[in-house]
Amino acid sequence: MYKKLTGQRINLRKAALADAKSIYQNAKDKDICMAVPLPMPYTLKTAQEYIKASQKKWETKKEAQFGIEYGKTGEIIGMIGLRSLNFELKKAEVGYWLGKDYWGKGIAKEALGLILKFAFFNLKLNRVYAEVKSKNLSSSKLLERSNFKLEGRLRKDEKFKGKWDDLLIFGMLKHEFSSE
Ligand SMILES: CC(C)(COP(=O)(O)OP(=O)(O)OC[C@H]1O[C@@H](n2cnc3c(N)ncnc32)[C@H](O)[C@@H]1OP(=O)(O)O)[C@@H](O)C(=O)NCCC(=O)NCCS
Repeated sequence: MYKKLTGQRINLRKAALADAKSIYQNAKDKDICMAVPLPMPYTLKTAQEYIKASQKKWETKKEAQFGIEYGKTGEIIGMIGLRSLNFELKKAEVGYWLGKDYWGKGIAKEALGLILKFAFFNLKLNRVYAEVKSKNLSSSKLLERSNFKLEGRLRKDEKFKGKWDDLLIFGMLKHEFSSE
């Protein structure tokens, strides 16, 4: 089911062990680890183990995790992927993070567009959804600007920084997707 996905400034490709250092350098930030969430402290070994685990999940069709490759350098600057892949019900959850140096440049939006195209046209899914902590404004904005619909709010579903937090569910159906 794998295919390298080519964009304007970035491409999406499978992460290899050689990418562990750049994944570690971009992921180790506390804000990123707390938002996704990723294990803390995030070490080089965490990145290596994550790459191996995600390769296995590709093989067993449980997840499709892509590295976000910065076109200019070939470096992996973040990750975006589909998990809870359900081919019978044609749905999956999308998750992502991007190194802080690359925030606010529309790169996450480009990566999301590429993975949605892959989900709807290569994997032939009907629904892609995302679960976002209500305080994660950047992620909610990214989804809204990418035409996801806010479908629900799970009240006090999670504990974040010691306080209960609501979880927002965003979703997109295939017919709502536009690659523009
Ligand atoms: C979520 C994340 C990937 C967004 O990355 P980003 O670089 O800010 O996203 P983009 O630059 O592509 O922005 C996408 C849109 O959202 C808007 N946006 C992003 N952050 C925003 C913010 N804090 N406030 C208002 N608007 C915001 C942008 O203006 C843009 O809209 P536009 O195209 O209409 O201008 C990044 O903040 C991140 O990695 N966060 C930590 C990990 C995380 O939260 N993962 C998601 C867990 S659910």
